[in-house]
Amino acid sequence: MIKVTIIGSGNVAQHLIRAFSNIENLNSTIVLTQVFSRNKDILGNVLDSSKITDDLNTLEEADLYILAVSDDAISEVSTQLPFTNRLVVHTSGTVALEALDNKNRKGVFYPLQTFTKNKAVDFKTIPICLETKLENDYAIIVEVAKSISDAVFEIRTEQRKALHVAAVFVNNFTNHLYKIGEEICNEHQVPFEILKPLIVETAQKIMVLSPEKAQTGPAKRNDTKTIEAHQAFLSNENQSTIYKILTQSIQHNGKKL
Ligand SMILES: NC(=O)c1ccc[n+]([C@@H]2O[C@H](COP(=O)([O-])OP(=O)(O)OC[C@H]3O[C@@H](n4cnc5c(N)ncnc54)[C@H](OP(=O)(O)O)[C@@H]3O)[C@@H](O)[C@H]2O)c1
Repeated sequence: MIKVTIIGSGNVAQHLIRAFSNIENLNSTIVLTQVFSRNKDILGNVLDSSKITDDLNTLEEADLYILAVSDDAISEVSTQLPFTNRLVVHTSGTVALEALDNKNRKGVFYPLQTFTKNKAVDFKTIPICLETKLENDYAIIVEVAKSISDAVFEIRTEQRKALHVAAVFVNNFTNHLYKIGEEICNEHQVPFEILKPLIVETAQKIMVLSPEKAQTGPAKRNDTKTIEAHQAFLSNENQSTIYKILTQSIQHNGKKL
């Protein structure tokens, strides 16, 4: 049996708690024994109250402590842990392994997905990127990760940073572009709903084609007249600048602006 403790009660912590609770019902050898939350009430309907503590000093012995706290708190909370030489991992895409206090064995357990508290996810499909300082510890986290996900990868710190930057492009920036599209629709009294099938098809297309092959549009075709007409249409300076930069990037195949 591998005993797991989660520290934190935010987005990632709550999804991990649900994922581990689900596998416990399947007689898994991975057991979520305890969760630390500064505010026990937050986890009221997520976990049995006997497993929740708000005092780090009452943390029981576990094989793995998953620190699912804000990036800025990882270092501080790892220092506050009242034990040594146990395996402590954080869940961040950007924070270095070194941020964890040296008094414990350390690693990273980074689930690469965008989590929102009340939006259910199927953890089995979520890639989990793993790294440990000591080779021997890898066997523990890989077993834990594989119990909740079918997509487990060993990813070194530099690769994890690259993945996180790439994730900002494909997720955060794409979502921001949806917001701009919605603003343009609203300004011209067109329902944003009309664009949703296009959004879905764009995402589905890159499941079978490379992004380069999937690219369409006036910039890809070098359709100068349409590009000029679009730029003349955009009176908002922010929208116009973003349109220009992305158009140039597509025209130069992402090599230069
Ligand atoms: N959200 C995502 O989509 C996502 C995806 C992959 C990885 N991650 C990573 O997962 C980690 C957690 O992110 P999240 O989205 O779950 O954040 P979150 O929802 O903002 O939750 C942060 C948690 O950290 C706790 N915390 C903050 N400062 C603390 C301190 N000084 N001492 C003790 N606890 C403290 C908070 O406690 P209180 O509630 O008491 O403030 C809360 O439980 C981060 O490293 C993040 O980069 C996030």
